[in-house]
Amino acid sequence: MGTQEASSPRPGQHEKVLSLRGLELAFGPNKVLRGFDLDLYRGENVMVLGKSGSGKSVLIKCIVRLLMPTGGSIEVLGQDVLALGQEELDHLRVKVGFLFQSSALYDSMTVEENLRFPLRRHWLATTSGEADGLVDEMLSAVGLAHTRKLFPSELSGGMKRRVALARTLILKPEIVLYDEPTTGLDPITGKEIVELILKLQRSYGTSSIIISHDLHVARMAANRIALLHEGRKYAEGTYDEFRSSQDPLIQNFFIFM
Ligand SMILES: Nc1ncnc2c1ncn2[C@@H]1O[C@H](COP(=O)(O)OP(=O)(O)O)[C@@H](O)[C@H]1O
Ligand SMILES: [Mg+2]
Repeated sequence: MGTQEASSPRPGQHEKVLSLRGLELAFGPNKVLRGFDLDLYRGENVMVLGKSGSGKSVLIKCIVRLLMPTGGSIEVLGQDVLALGQEELDHLRVKVGFLFQSSALYDSMTVEENLRFPLRRHWLATTSGEADGLVDEMLSAVGLAHTRKLFPSELSGGMKRRVALARTLILKPEIVLYDEPTTGLDPITGKEIVELILKLQRSYGTSSIIISHDLHVARMAANRIALLHEGRKYAEGTYDEFRSSQDPLIQNFFIFM
């Protein structure tokens, strides 16, 4: 554990799929990211922990260029993300899925239409039979095969999060970025969502960055935790290393959970 360069690859995880170096992002005078470094290896779950407003959402938005950093570099699946043209960026956004903090389903569309949307957007599964097959597969995978024709307003918070998960995974991304996947859910539903994320990761072989301040997520899902503080990676380690840390800043997360 420490603030130095990320640790050597874990057994079976030698392939680096994502690398952030010296990432900087400022909104006018507000320097949110001030040289953030992070690596992600294939098959791994890295959690980024940080207090509210520390720049966690901003950080993962930079990875798919929903925001343009003001400095540093981003390499994803061998590509220099900041140098990509629009078409290459579209391809990248198929390989890198994004689960937004608030589920962000389209309220005027049924569950089924919500799931078809990314397929249309990226010109994938061009026959309706193919699209139907994928919608069925994903809805079954999240345990919601019976909700095809329902609208988001007819679903509970946990069900909406499952649909959002299915919509993210329908493109079969290699990497998934989860922004606070359990926030706003009761603890039991939150636990179910984490279990579902882990199950889907095993079946689809994805690697992920999970943004959260939920320590249950850390304990259950994170192979490694990076603490974002004042725009930099303040510390990095396993859940157990964080838990036994004497650093007051790290201890705070355990006290106030
Ligand atoms: N589009 C934006 N324009 C200006 N400031 C922003 C924008 N998005 C986020 N910020 C600011 O960046 C900081 C980090 O925000 P965010 O990444 O959302 O924090 P969190 O760690 O809670 O996810 C906050 O100070 C926020 O006000
Ligand atoms: Mg956020």
